[in-house]
Amino acid sequence: MKVPLLLILTVWLNTQYGCCALSTCSHPPSQWCSSLDSAIQCGVLKQCLESNFTRSRQTVDAVDVGLYYESLCPGCRLFLSNMLFPTWVLLNDIMTVTLVPYGNAQEKPAEKKYTYECQHGEQECLGNMIETCLLNMTKMAFPIIFCMESSGDVIKEAKTCVELYGEPDLTWGSIMSCVNGDLGNQLMHQNALKTNALKPSHQYVPWVTINGEHTEDLQNKAMSSLFSLVCSMYKGPKPEACGGGQRHYKSYCHND
Ligand SMILES: *[C@@H]1O[C@H](CO)[C@@H](O)[C@H](O)[C@H]1NC(C)=O
Ligand SMILES: *[C@@H]1O[C@H](CO)[C@@H](O)[C@H](O)[C@H]1NC(C)=O
Repeated sequence: MKVPLLLILTVWLNTQYGCCALSTCSHPPSQWCSSLDSAIQCGVLKQCLESNFTRSRQTVDAVDVGLYYESLCPGCRLFLSNMLFPTWVLLNDIMTVTLVPYGNAQEKPAEKKYTYECQHGEQECLGNMIETCLLNMTKMAFPIIFCMESSGDVIKEAKTCVELYGEPDLTWGSIMSCVNGDLGNQLMHQNALKTNALKPSHQYVPWVTINGEHTEDLQNKAMSSLFSLVCSMYKGPKPEACGGGQRHYKSYCHND
């Protein structure tokens, strides 16, 4: 028996948002203003007009890839090193990356701050914290985190990675005072809030969101070819890296 797609979407939306007003709105919030049809369907035409959506249609939004992970989880390290970072290097003009190092950690409120327990122990909490501080302190955070996660020892190599990729004024001492101080603690609390707010809530890590949305289908596509997924999700003219340029590599030597 074939179940009508609209019915599935309606049921899905009702369970996602627990709301009936959106029952004909089949677009994720990030796309409500992407066309006149979806703005009307989702009942947000006025808001879209107020935010100049006709103009924003011309400058197409980058695809945001969110990664909820923990620093010592083998699957996270593989995905970040072999899939996410290489894809971003090629497609960073059409994609943004949101890293949330926390994963399956547990937060407990203590006096004036929070304490954390991590799935792979204290070293993982330290790795999460270093990466969290980097994300707050430097534009080079992603290359440094890639360097750490793809190395033999995430924690031991961190300092070397900072020296390799960080700006000259980014000192190891300043990172460590974030890691051991109130700033790091507060930033990690933000990661906990973001991770706990996931809908649906995460069942494993690495947990991927695309434009804030997680489905099994998006997760599977991200795991098998994030590159193709980002290219296909991007609404604007495809950059050469997405395939336009491939024919340039097709060159043959014939013997006559
Ligand atoms: C919409 O565009 C107008 C004219 O360019 C501008 O004055 C206004 O601030 C814009 N509104 C928003 C929400 O960006
Ligand atoms: C760093 O964290 C502080 C405190 O939460 C925040 O005000 C600031 O905007 C953050 N900076 C960046 C670049 O994320």
